[in-house]
Amino acid sequence: LTDITELLLSRIRDVADYPEPGVMFKDITPLLADPAAFSALTDALAAVAANTGATKVVGLEARGFILGAPVAIRAGLGFIPVRKAGKLPGATLSQAYDLEYGSAEIEVHAEDLSTDDRILIVDDVLATGGTAEASIELIRRAGAEVAGLAVLMELGFLGGRARLEPALAGAPLESLLKV
Ligand code: PRP
Ligand code: MG
Repeated sequence: LTDITELLLSRIRDVADYPEPGVMFKDITPLLADPAAFSALTDALAAVAANTGATKVVGLEARGFILGAPVAIRAGLGFIPVRKAGKLPGATLSQAYDLEYGSAEIEVHAEDLSTDDRILIVDDVLATGGTAEASIELIRRAGAEVAGLAVLMELGFLGGRARLEPALAGAPLESLLKV
């Protein structure tokens, strides 16, 4: 393991049986509370933004906002929130997606994305890939290009990477940690 991998791993807390029995929750709040770790994470994700030639950073509500906003600043790019439905006041594009039980919907301000944009999507965790897949769909429908998807952590056993392959269409999926 590299130094940064060890640092990040050491600041993620495993919480058993949260939010329901049988689930091991990955709590990133210790990482956020450590300025050295949060800064190293921001640097690593900003490097992905630079390497992919992104023109803007999209963060996925809510934890993707916390990680994505400092990445945008550090990379010198604008930040665009993809929000859960009903929170954005302007003209939006929305995308529904399935959850294990029921469904969810995310939205973006249509005017925030143009055909000239290459978007780096940032989130904390890739699990089943449902949230990321919906955000890719949303960005494409807005006419922008997806430069890549960058996450702190990928839960490999849930198969999100394979699920996203068609949607990403060759754009890179960078996960700093595979757990
Ligand atoms: C969590 C996590 C990712 C998503 C991953 O968000 O932050 O965004 O689930 O799951 P998936 O790959 O199966 O879609 P969640 O909406 O639970 O909570 P948050 O608002 O705290 O980010
Ligand atoms: Mg989330």
